[in-house]
Amino acid sequence: MKIAIFPGSFDPFTKGHLEILKKATNLFDKIIICILENSSKTQNFSSENKLEIIKLSTKELKNIEIKTNDGLLVDFAKANNANFIVKGLRNQTDFEYENSMYQINKKLDENIETIYIICNDEYRNISSTAVRELIKFDADFSFLIEPCAYKFIKNLKES
Ligand code: PNS
Repeated sequence: MKIAIFPGSFDPFTKGHLEILKKATNLFDKIIICILENSSKTQNFSSENKLEIIKLSTKELKNIEIKTNDGLLVDFAKANNANFIVKGLRNQTDFEYENSMYQINKKLDENIETIYIICNDEYRNISSTAVRELIKFDADFSFLIEPCAYKFIKNLKES
């Protein structure tokens, strides 16, 4: 059974993440989405809300699980019997960052391979940062996020 981890801060999960995840489900038997809990970046959404947003955004996908992790990614992969990590690439900046993560993770565990999936052109400019920025200015961000996740976030803001 080919199991892959799809890790990220997911602050929040966007249509860009979903595109990569959908492509990955065609390559692996099971994908475990791993929400990083102790990021050095300031997080906008709580882990509980991130999980709910991902649940809503991925409800049509099969063979996926959603978990949180506050340790090393390679340790999480091993603990979940996964030999693969899947990540998306949008541009040169992503490539530079991911290349160094790749080398570090390989040094930590050479048996875990990271597979990179390039996003389609229409997803190149989608980012969690853009979602957060638009929320801050009370602007429309519905084009960056799945409709049910959009409703959930709108409700959070109003409650
Ligand atoms: O969505 P992001 O912020 O690009 O995700 C980054 C993430 C979560 C994949 C990365 O920070 C990560 O793997 N963190 C876990 C700690 C770890 O294993 N670091 C690698 C060695 S420095």
